[in-house]
Amino acid sequence: MRAVDLIRKKKEGLELNDEEIRFLVRGYTEHDIPDYQMSAFLMAVCFQGMTDEEILSLTLSMRDSGKVMDLGKIKGQKIDKHSTGGIGDKTTLVLSPIVASLGIPVTKMSGRGLGYTGGTVDKLQSIPGYRCEYTTDEFIDQVKKHGIIVAGQSDELAPADRMIYALRDATGTVDSIPLIASSIMSKKLSSGCDGIVLDVTCGSGAFMKDEKSARKLANLMVTIGKKAGKRMSALITSMDEPLGFAVGNSNEVKEAVGALKGNGPSDLMTVVYGLGSEMLMLAGIYSDRQSCINAMKKSVADGSAYNKMVEWISSQGGDASFLDDTSKFPAATKLTPVRALCKGYVSSIDSDMIGKSVMLLGGGRKKMSDKIDSAVGIKLIKKTGDYVRPGDIIMEISSDFGPDDDEAIHTAANAYHYSDEMPLKSDVIIGVIK
Ligand code: URA
Repeated sequence: MRAVDLIRKKKEGLELNDEEIRFLVRGYTEHDIPDYQMSAFLMAVCFQGMTDEEILSLTLSMRDSGKVMDLGKIKGQKIDKHSTGGIGDKTTLVLSPIVASLGIPVTKMSGRGLGYTGGTVDKLQSIPGYRCEYTTDEFIDQVKKHGIIVAGQSDELAPADRMIYALRDATGTVDSIPLIASSIMSKKLSSGCDGIVLDVTCGSGAFMKDEKSARKLANLMVTIGKKAGKRMSALITSMDEPLGFAVGNSNEVKEAVGALKGNGPSDLMTVVYGLGSEMLMLAGIYSDRQSCINAMKKSVADGSAYNKMVEWISSQGGDASFLDDTSKFPAATKLTPVRALCKGYVSSIDSDMIGKSVMLLGGGRKKMSDKIDSAVGIKLIKKTGDYVRPGDIIMEISSDFGPDDDEAIHTAANAYHYSDEMPLKSDVIIGVIK
């Protein structure tokens, strides 16, 4: 078999079989196939797409490029959760201790942020001491003792995806539904869980800009997961404005802590309870959504979820006194209020621009080696549907005198759009796919 023939075949829109796809993935991972040939193949996929069978082969061959975790030593149903990424998305921080407090083992591997969307690992590392790197034995031990771990992605899992993702990033081939679906699912299938709940975000701050593409991606990932023997469910959620009010690493941890103390913003809690219900139902703990929501609300109200967060953070080396007193998080040096220049209803907030602004402030990475400033960020004061008058503060920007602060402030201010009419606000959960 020769890579050039397979590239040509895909370029002509023909279907590759499992053996051919495995040949490409194995060859690339073992450095027999060079970057330029893999890039050409990926570009052909962007233009020609892939059949469901091809996507399954690509997913499984990337999963099989590394270890598949064996979580059999951990009792109970392990239900993983994954978001395709968003701005202000701190659902993992809130959801994980809630479901862990209800007896579902949380075995979560999370990523770092790149580009505009933040990474859970970066958020957690704004808590001094929080440890993200674990060997497989330590990982399993932590879950057996505490029922919860949120660690960084292990290098041993799906190495082919890591290599191919880096190539896609450099060759403009990220935004292909077959490539996104296989990338996400290869990592999830290697994590050894019994079921997976997906949060497929859609809107200005998401990979999928419209509902149709989000549904396509969600259906595809649910199908792949089921074919690989997992219990699956996906929510389509709106990313037409940031989730909650806080964007930026320590800002988001503080908001998550507030949520577990009973003060969560309603859009955030809707997504948390929506995803949590799917997890509890997949785990077989409850069979209907309302019982799940009642149980989760009770866990927040009686402090069990917050206590679980304290146990989780301290067992992973984090200083839990920062949760009891969130004023201990270092503050940024400058606070800039941004004011409305006109009157009207906030009709939309471009999440992408808010994410870009936080990245420019130093809260995200332009390249993987960049250091993150955890203290910078944005607090939205007004959200879609709120009425403003000229001079009203619409957001506050925390910065640390970075070189791109002016551009960041300008970008954030331009994210707000206004109308004379009260906008119709759509539900944050747009659909459920099983
Ligand atoms: N997240 C991933 O892990 N892979 C993609 O391709 C896109 C988002």
